Amino acid sequence: MSERTMMGRNLALEAVRVTEAAALAAARLTGRGDERAADTAAVEAMHRALNGLLIDGTVVIGQGERAEADLLYTGEKVGAGAGNALVDIALNPLEGATICATGGYNALSVVALAVKGGFLRVPPIYMDKIAVGPNLPAGVVDLDAGVPDNLKSLAQAKGCPVSDLLICILDRPRHEDLIEKVREAGARVMLIADGDVSGVIAAGQPHTGVDMYLGTGGAPEGVLAAAALGAVGGQMQGRLIFRSEDERAMAHERGITDLSHKYELSELARGDVMFAATGVTDGAILRGVRRYQGGATTHSMVVRAKSGTVRFVSAQHNSQRKAGLD
Ligand code: FBP
Repeated sequence: MSERTMMGRNLALEAVRVTEAAALAAARLTGRGDERAADTAAVEAMHRALNGLLIDGTVVIGQGERAEADLLYTGEKVGAGAGNALVDIALNPLEGATICATGGYNALSVVALAVKGGFLRVPPIYMDKIAVGPNLPAGVVDLDAGVPDNLKSLAQAKGCPVSDLLICILDRPRHEDLIEKVREAGARVMLIADGDVSGVIAAGQPHTGVDMYLGTGGAPEGVLAAAALGAVGGQMQGRLIFRSEDERAMAHERGITDLSHKYELSELARGDVMFAATGVTDGAILRGVRRYQGGATTHSMVVRAKSGTVRFVSAQHNSQRKAGLD
């Protein structure tokens, strides 16, 4: 492998700077009721920070197509450029813009880096997802199995009754049936208003108490979540959901031909993937940004698939010495 096709381990810590910058920018607008302004602030800050990295980067999962987004659109080149490591980037500067605007729970800034070709290039459509944490037998749950069978199998593998299991699901009318099935089978449900990247990551972090993530959310969020979950040894499957010919065409443009394929985690995000997230508002895994006179604190996680190390990074930012914190 040439140096340009490898990512140095320090890049993982550099990635945290990128999500910190976006989270700090969005946090200035938390609770202001303006999701667009919060999103724009996060996008601009992440764009600046990414351009400070010593990478020859390409955004493969970004803010939309070039015609829809000024910055961080799919295909945009970022970083110092030629001569540096060739890196594909999946990102969401503000995952949960509505949460941020309403001062709710679980808004994050996220970025994932992989060697070229490491991410499935999904269009901005829905994906059906199932995810569980590490240290479980391969194939313990399956997207095509029924809810009771998956719950029984997971409980058996964890050595607990089904009633102990906590299943995280996005609170949406489309999930009414799913929620009922989980409850009927005897498990508990944790409903989240938004932010299923955080929901999937929670399934991979035992201290959150979440045993499984289930349901339909954004496909780009599915790839980002796979990057984080894969690095800690979790399992995930996803299947794209198409609601129109346009959506099918977008998939074809990205080289996706088998539209009903059930993707394993390793097909969503593979290789030496690095993932960083910083809390914008408080959530199950990360504390949100705290702003105070003279600065702000951030709480982030950074994961590298190669080593499986998960780092939680608390940072104090000094507004006297760092622009843009006031
Ligand atoms: P945004 O980052 O675009 O605000 O997405 C938030 C989110 O909750 C995702 O986490 C999730 O995958 C998706 O929206 C679900 O979509 P919908 O709100 O249409 O159900």
